[in-house]
Amino acid sequence: MLKYIVSISLALAVIACGGKQPNKYAAKIDGEAIFKKYCVTCHGVDGKLKLNGAKDLSISQLSLAEKVIQVTKGKNTMTPFEGILSPPEIQAVAEYTITLIKK
Ligand code: HEC
Repeated sequence: MLKYIVSISLALAVIACGGKQPNKYAAKIDGEAIFKKYCVTCHGVDGKLKLNGAKDLSISQLSLAEKVIQVTKGKNTMTPFEGILSPPEIQAVAEYTITLIKK
């Protein structure tokens, strides 16, 4: 499992650093893809699954900055993603969770 996580992280690092336009790589990060890979296990595709005590993201009141902190540091049974995702990836996935609220 750890090997699996490490290889995913390496693959993402290669994708993130591979472009020839280093200042534009953040725009290419797909928050939705990250969400579907790392977050749906507890939050579900629509954010409403609430498995393992997870919060319903479609009614979350947290600001973007607070979501970024919580994804980075984790909370209770939520995994801290700071060793798994890069800060721009965490930013992208936190922004994606906001789109779940509008639906
Ligand atoms: C292992 C299960 C698990 C995974 C995986 C997980 N979460 Fe969570 N998440 C939780 C739990 C549990 C909470 C509630 C924590 C608490 O407040 O006690 C939570 C809460 C949150 C909140 C705060 C919602 C609110 O209004 O309080 C956000 C935002 C969030 N998760 C985003 C994410 C994102 C983005 C990912 C993927 C990068 C993710 N989570 C992956 C379990 C998980």
